[in-house]
Amino acid sequence: MELCAQMVSEIPESVLKDENSTFLDPAAGSGNFLLALQTELSKYHELSHINDHMLYAVELMVDNHAEMCKRVGVPVNHPHFLCADALEYDYSFGEPVGLEGYGLGKIDNGQKYTPIINKDLSEAQLPLDS
Ligand SMILES: C[S@@+](CC[C@H](N)C(=O)[O-])C[C@H]1O[C@@H](n2cnc3c(N)ncnc32)[C@H](O)[C@@H]1O
Repeated sequence: MELCAQMVSEIPESVLKDENSTFLDPAAGSGNFLLALQTELSKYHELSHINDHMLYAVELMVDNHAEMCKRVGVPVNHPHFLCADALEYDYSFGEPVGLEGYGLGKIDNGQKYTPIINKDLSEAQLPLDS
């Protein structure tokens, strides 16, 4: 926790103060880094805004994920705090990513993203094209 607090203290105040700033821990464990962030962000923002709009997490292990959610104060089915493999997850966090029709991406929360690598994506409307 001490190291996490030290890391968070190095984030510029302008970033912490910005209500549109977002932070992701892709291997969130039991949530030490998220808790340090939450503590620092709570100097500037409501807890509900921090949890629902600023913090994002992915954690592979079910028990670690449950502990992280409990410590942060969100339900285990919160769309921004995922129990998933960070190396495969599509990082949609409950929002459409624009590739659902091609077997990529997902909207449903909590389901593991499984890439379909043989699908012909030549006509896909990739976000980077627009
Ligand atoms: C050292 S702990 C992380 C500590 C955490 N960042 C914190 O602030 O408390 C590493 C975590 O990474 C998770 N992990 C390992 N491989 C992962 C993967 N592919 N996707 C998501 N989480 C993963 C492990 O389950 C473990 O909980």
